[in-house]
Amino acid sequence: MNNIDKQRTALMIAAVIGIIGCSKEPAPEAAASAAPAPAASPAAAPATTSDANAATLASNNGELIPIKVYKDPNCGCCKEWVKNLEANGFKVETMDMPDLSMIKAKYAVKPEIQACHTAIVGNYVVEGHVPADLIKKMLKDKPAIAGLAVPGMPQGSPGMEGATKERYDVLTFDRAGRTTVYAQR
Ligand code: CU
Ligand code: CU
Repeated sequence: MNNIDKQRTALMIAAVIGIIGCSKEPAPEAAASAAPAPAASPAAAPATTSDANAATLASNNGELIPIKVYKDPNCGCCKEWVKNLEANGFKVETMDMPDLSMIKAKYAVKPEIQACHTAIVGNYVVEGHVPADLIKKMLKDKPAIAGLAVPGMPQGSPGMEGATKERYDVLTFDRAGRTTVYAQR
């Protein structure tokens, strides 16, 4: 490896570390102003608890889907993603911890696919801002994968709503670190 390659590698590592640090969290005012706006899709973010329950009953036959979310207590976008899950029929148990590296190592979430939070649902791992409908699809189809990941924190993904919306891939991954594109959003 020559010096330029070493510098590139260091930059790439720095970029990944920056991405996983919740640094793209929307500003509070952006989040606040986004909240009362009409939801992008009719199924997303029902306005009241009873609406949320109705949506849940309609989509899951009344069964809430248990999911455990490991997250940094100070990460705002993690909280927003949890709210999105709750609005979509999940029963969320949050595990707040400042350092998630042990969790990511345990569940084979390699640096290339890391985001802020790591969640466990059934036998699957969910890394980052994965849309709720794709988690449900995975649970229904039961593919032979370790889980789904949305690496980094793309603007416009669930919990990362704001002024801009970028296209992003939702990846499958296995314990060896192999990935495939599961969906594009
Ligand atoms: Cu995030
Ligand atoms: Cu998060």
